[in-house]
Amino acid sequence: MTATSASGDKTTDKYGGTQGSPVTYNKYLRVHDLKELQVCLSDPPHHDEPLFIIIHQTYELWFKLVLHELDTVQALLAEDNVRRANFFLRRVIAIMKLLVQQIHILETMSPQDFLGFRHNLNPASGFQSSQFREVEFTLGAKDERMLEHFKPDASAYAMLKERFAKPSVLDSFNAVLRRKGFVLPEADEDARVKELVRLYKNDDSLADLSDLAELLVEIDELVYLWRVNHVTVVERIIGFKRGTGGSEGVGYLQSTLMKRCFPDLWKVRTVLE
Ligand code: HEM
Repeated sequence: MTATSASGDKTTDKYGGTQGSPVTYNKYLRVHDLKELQVCLSDPPHHDEPLFIIIHQTYELWFKLVLHELDTVQALLAEDNVRRANFFLRRVIAIMKLLVQQIHILETMSPQDFLGFRHNLNPASGFQSSQFREVEFTLGAKDERMLEHFKPDASAYAMLKERFAKPSVLDSFNAVLRRKGFVLPEADEDARVKELVRLYKNDDSLADLSDLAELLVEIDELVYLWRVNHVTVVERIIGFKRGTGGSEGVGYLQSTLMKRCFPDLWKVRTVLE
């Protein structure tokens, strides 16, 4: 994760402190900078636009942290440190539970009030959230067609291309299982799913791997719940209007509901006896 160093202090900084003065809450967290980042496009500013900006910005901050944690999870899985990887996946889950709920804050905004500033956003859309796509790609839901939409944003495009090319968490999971002797043929889904049944037999020697599998299913479930809550909030606020990103809107979002990052782990339930 890119973290900016605070070492660039001048003799007197913009927070009124002097070089060498003790760190303060506002200084450490760059609260003054943070508060400058909510720039309304409506003129005069619509009362609800700060809510709309802040909710999206906080999602993006959490996406940043989720990606940071997932990178660590993958590094740990590469070292077969499954227990520690699970530790960080639990953090990802705690964050995602918050993200699933946070969308509801938008329901305190009336459909009419949203129309008061929605036209200013056109043609921007959550569809262009490159970090959301990075999370999808990193977990394992990769769709190359998505890359096209990011070409106008060079840095987002470069980042996404890199994520697309890199092994996903799904790949890391399969790799660690293969190293433990699981036979998971790339081209034979039925065989893979049957092999995964071993994780569900309460075998103590596979306990960490079984936990890992269930943590991944939980993440997939939370992504699904976010999609459900998002599309419901969208319908409540804009009905069946087209999206500012140019899609059909609710119809498009409903078509994404069943996207799965770990499809084998869902299918294994059906074959358990
Ligand atoms: C008033 C609230 C919101 C409305 C009306 C809304 C509407 C929409 C619509 C219509 C789409 C489909 C693409 C398009 O044509 O624009 C979309 C996609 C999306 N929105 Fe929202 N949205 C809202 C809030 C949010 C929030 C708070 C987030 C948080 C990050 C978000 C993230 C996304 C993402 C990631 C997509 C792409 C989903 C996918 O392609 O699977 N949206 N939104």
